[in-house]
Amino acid sequence: MITRQELIKKYIEFFKHKGHKHIPSASLIPENDPTVLFTTAGMHPLVPFLLGQSHPLGKRLVSVQKCIRTGDIEEVGDKVHHTFFEMLGNWSLGDYFKEDAIKFSFEFLTKELKIPLEKLAVTCFVGDKNAGKDIESSKIWKSLGIKDERIAFLPKEKNWWGPAGLTGPCGPDTEMFYWKSKTKKVPKVFNPEDENWVEIWNDVFMQYNKNKSGKYEPLKQKNVDTGMGVERTLTILNELEDNYQSSIFKPIISEIEKISKKKYKSSDSDDDKSMRIVADHIRTATFILGEEKHLTPSNTDQGYVLRRLIRRAIRFGRQLGIKENFTSQISKIIVHEYTDYPELARNHKSITSALDEEELRFLETLEKGLKKFNQFVEEFKKIIPGKEAFLLFQSYGFPIEMTQELADEKGIEVDLEEYNEEFKKHQDLSRTMSAGRFKSGLADDSEATKKLHTATHLLNEALRQVLKDNNIKQRGSNITPERLRFDFNFSRKLTDDELKKVEQWVNDKIKKSLPVTREEIPLTQAMASGAQSEFGSKYPELVSVYTIGNPKSFISKEICTGPHVSNTSEIGNFRIIKEESSAAGIRRIKAVISN
Ligand code: ALA
Repeated sequence: MITRQELIKKYIEFFKHKGHKHIPSASLIPENDPTVLFTTAGMHPLVPFLLGQSHPLGKRLVSVQKCIRTGDIEEVGDKVHHTFFEMLGNWSLGDYFKEDAIKFSFEFLTKELKIPLEKLAVTCFVGDKNAGKDIESSKIWKSLGIKDERIAFLPKEKNWWGPAGLTGPCGPDTEMFYWKSKTKKVPKVFNPEDENWVEIWNDVFMQYNKNKSGKYEPLKQKNVDTGMGVERTLTILNELEDNYQSSIFKPIISEIEKISKKKYKSSDSDDDKSMRIVADHIRTATFILGEEKHLTPSNTDQGYVLRRLIRRAIRFGRQLGIKENFTSQISKIIVHEYTDYPELARNHKSITSALDEEELRFLETLEKGLKKFNQFVEEFKKIIPGKEAFLLFQSYGFPIEMTQELADEKGIEVDLEEYNEEFKKHQDLSRTMSAGRFKSGLADDSEATKKLHTATHLLNEALRQVLKDNNIKQRGSNITPERLRFDFNFSRKLTDDELKKVEQWVNDKIKKSLPVTREEIPLTQAMASGAQSEFGSKYPELVSVYTIGNPKSFISKEICTGPHVSNTSEIGNFRIIKEESSAAGIRRIKAVISN
């Protein structure tokens, strides 16, 4: 039996031994990345470095990154899907390429994890008009002992990874598969369609940048980006059929057993499905709530995903027969298990209160809403009109996805188009917008975004200066090409006069045409020099720091991965459009720039 901690340690140590530097897991909420709600892969925080910026820790990196993928929340309930997972990964930023990447992977799988060669198979990219057939990778695999009949060449849909969003780094990949069946003999010839072959690792050769016009331009440097899911790998190595039986989920499932007084049998029964949903969703919700940014359930962006997860878990908890308030009881187990993410313990109180509040709020309407839903089924038989679905959302707090899932269970439909019209009518476009963003990916680093990013640094400093409060720190930031959004700690509303002064302070610095410079220095030096850091963020030993103004008498200095404009004169005119409360003790400013 290998545990989660053992697997992670083995991986990190192995790659450290091969000259990689261990970088900490970044936040689950991407910094300055407007097009994506959550960090979806280990490469996500590394995009600027894959595009060519030099990384303070060098060209070889390794990490275990907390990730969330929300593309198929409703799929969760079977034995293999999760919303939260940890991804092990190693990177070469313009250093080694195919040969070493594949050799490292092979050595780790066969020597460290001791997977027998006969249980392995691989896929390589078959080639298209953008990139040729990846004969090179297949040759390397063959030289290591993988037989021809265990190598499949597949098209882009299978063997190309990225960009994570519409634009960004991407390239062909080679994927490793493991034969999981204990009863069926391993076939000689690899058939990627056979479900007994499960993907265990992905080596991506990121040598292209997909640009805005959809073209693939060769990158300045050839990178390697790899990803191995901790949950799945652990299940495989321990020869389990069900991810929820692994040591990761055992304590969570046993708590659910205790509360529901039911036994988990790892079957396809409704009860077992409900247990898996509760386990997955509360684990993910705990990690989101554990972020230092103190997100809470809401009807937009990450808050909406949080709401969907918690409410879906509650519905299935009720289906399991749980009567009492239970979500925070389960999250307690998760906080205790994941001691390597100290932010969970640090924020345990607020995790508990957010879950309790959301649960109490939803319980007030869940039963009544279900009754209403059943009436609609009786009345409309085939399709629930959008107006009624909207009523379930507005008056009973049913996320539309929940209504759709309930309808699905009854074999009827929901008029989504009418629902969306209804939604628009109520002037709240934000959720539909964010729903469209769930699957999309990385930020562009457009000129507009860069300008707003540098303006954000100025705003951060302006607040401390104008409000004469050195304890003000960034508590979150989100930048789209249209506007910036900046959260900071402050106990009251800002006056109009103060807002005007903040604006003036920023515009004054813009007019002064100050240089913006970047340097890489040790974290301790950065902190000692007075560089701003974000509250609660973890940083590596070496960091990049952006300075605005004369380095000796700078007006702003922040630890930040960029990108920024090179002179404040490029920014344009800065204007605050809104100041509001974002959470207890946290204020939020939205601002725009114009030419
Ligand atoms: N970024 C690649 C993945 O997520 C490694 O599979």
